[in-house]
Amino acid sequence: MKVALVTGAARGIGLATTKQFLAKGWRVAMVDWDGDELALSAKSLENVITLDHDIAQTQDVARIVSKTLEAFGQIDALVNNAGVADFGPIEETDYERWRRIMSINLDGTFLLSQAATDALKVTKGAIVNIGSISGLRASTLRVAYGTSKAAVIHLTKQQAAELGEYGIRANCVCPGPVRTKLAMAVHTQVIIDSYHDAIPLNRYGTEDEIASVITFLCSAEASYVTGQIIASDGGFESTGVGLPALRT
Ligand SMILES: NC(=O)c1ccc[n+]([C@@H]2O[C@H](COP(=O)([O-])OP(=O)(O)OC[C@H]3O[C@@H](n4cnc5c(N)ncnc54)[C@H](O)[C@@H]3O)[C@@H](O)[C@H]2O)c1
Repeated sequence: MKVALVTGAARGIGLATTKQFLAKGWRVAMVDWDGDELALSAKSLENVITLDHDIAQTQDVARIVSKTLEAFGQIDALVNNAGVADFGPIEETDYERWRRIMSINLDGTFLLSQAATDALKVTKGAIVNIGSISGLRASTLRVAYGTSKAAVIHLTKQQAAELGEYGIRANCVCPGPVRTKLAMAVHTQVIIDSYHDAIPLNRYGTEDEIASVITFLCSAEASYVTGQIIASDGGFESTGVGLPALRT
């Protein structure tokens, strides 16, 4: 039975990804720093362990990997999904705010991947990092969030370049907007309307629509895919101006 380590697994995209792995017969180490929500989400699930840790802390990261190996003996896929959003103007993004976003979205992804590399060498496993449409295109209010996700996109390419030697694949999924707690905390009605205007499919995505791309990239069906950045975004990244006008 294969083993996935999924961060930010208590809810949203991480929880949907966990459930898809379980449906495919994998075991899952569910990581989240929200221990209460993690316990609640895992209650009805079999073949999981829950790890209440902060991915941005080096000592936590080492424990996440050692506890997963203790429980399951191997790691076949690492999904670096835990992340935080913060929308604010450049002038109001002080260093503390900037560091908080970078330390979780970027440093956490780097640290956990590094800590899991030896285990992934053994299985010739896969890393899937979660970027964002905000890392592919710039927009207002996302100086920290967008920059952290652009860095995650490049980190993925660095990982693919170096770790391919060991048979480890690294890919990045960039979701468009999904109605999770993270998105709803920062998406006003005006932002929601703007997304609809800019997305050819004219709607938000679902957690499952992102999770199915993630689990595909971890599967044997994607065995020759590495270093790729795949947007699951309703076509948002591929378009320019003009959609609302064309719809009328
Ligand atoms: N929802 C969207 O519209 C959207 C769009 C693009 C990208 N994303 C990305 O998808 C990923 C998942 O987001 P989501 O929308 O499911 O959000 P969410 O807030 O529903 O879930 C994120 C989970 O990560 C956990 N987490 C955050 N920081 C952590 C840390 N330091 N250590 C451990 N756990 C931590 C949270 O407790 C939460 O359970 C994020 O990386 C996010 O940036 C989301």
